[in-house]
Amino acid sequence: MSDTTPHPNRFAGKVAVVTGAASGIGRETALRLGAEGASVIAVDIAADVDGVAAQIVEAGGTALAVQSDVSERAGAEAPVDAALDEYGQLDVLCNIAGILAAAHSDQVPDEQWERIIAVNLTGVFYTTRRALPALVESKGSIVMAASTSALSGHPWMTAYSASKGGVLAMTRTLAMEYARRGVRVNAVAPGGITTPMVGGLQLPDDIDFSLFDRISPLDEFRGPETVASAICFLAAPEAAHINGEVLRVDGGTLA
Ligand SMILES: NC(=O)c1ccc[n+]([C@@H]2O[C@H](COP(=O)([O-])OP(=O)(O)OC[C@H]3O[C@@H](n4cnc5c(N)ncnc54)[C@H](O)[C@@H]3O)[C@@H](O)[C@H]2O)c1
Repeated sequence: MSDTTPHPNRFAGKVAVVTGAASGIGRETALRLGAEGASVIAVDIAADVDGVAAQIVEAGGTALAVQSDVSERAGAEAPVDAALDEYGQLDVLCNIAGILAAAHSDQVPDEQWERIIAVNLTGVFYTTRRALPALVESKGSIVMAASTSALSGHPWMTAYSASKGGVLAMTRTLAMEYARRGVRVNAVAPGGITTPMVGGLQLPDDIDFSLFDRISPLDEFRGPETVASAICFLAAPEAAHINGEVLRVDGGTLA
């Protein structure tokens, strides 16, 4: 059993932007930050994000929803602007929005490559670039959703793993560049978490499934709340001396 009980008031007085907040890991992260006292800007391309913000408010927290596409510059910047307009500060940015698709690497359609890079990498860049001045002011922190695919070979996921490798490289670069200005930048690398993304994955039907034995040896997949608790730890003051780190949340798959 995992204990993922929220820490009350850990983020009291803080303002957090969470992208990908309508589902899976982003949703659990937004709910947890809300339960821990943050004012949450819940961001997603899906309209369901309204319900997540409403759930935080119903539970006694503070939140607003921004429905936007982070792959578009304006859509990626809008949540940061909303945080500053509404609450006057930004302390935590969680770049969680992402998409996944699979194909034989010699058959990846242009649209698949371009969309995955646009959402998973360019979107992270756009949101982060907009947020950095406010995070320097607040001495805040950023947590990225990388992936075990940035740390080891994930067959049939060439666009996805390239995007996550880029996120990890960006994490380390930003951590170096902004450390002396008080901003920490870390990443989680989840693996095999049970969310709609993984449930909806369509693999080519002629593949050697045994290659997945190395990636997902655990019979029991873990829920997104286990990743949310790691994200909140990295974002919190208790991780004050952790910077440029990638924390695997994969049940030991790559240990
Ligand atoms: N589930 C896993 O095993 C796993 C493993 C490694 C990394 N990750 C990463 O964790 C993050 C969350 O994944 P998840 O499993 O919770 O998936 P999910 O599909 O449940 O949630 C992803 C959310 O991102 C949103 N989104 C997609 N495109 C968007 C866009 N253009 N603009 C704004 N929002 C957009 C979706 O609508 C969805 O709500 C992703 O970055 C994913 O790559 C997940």
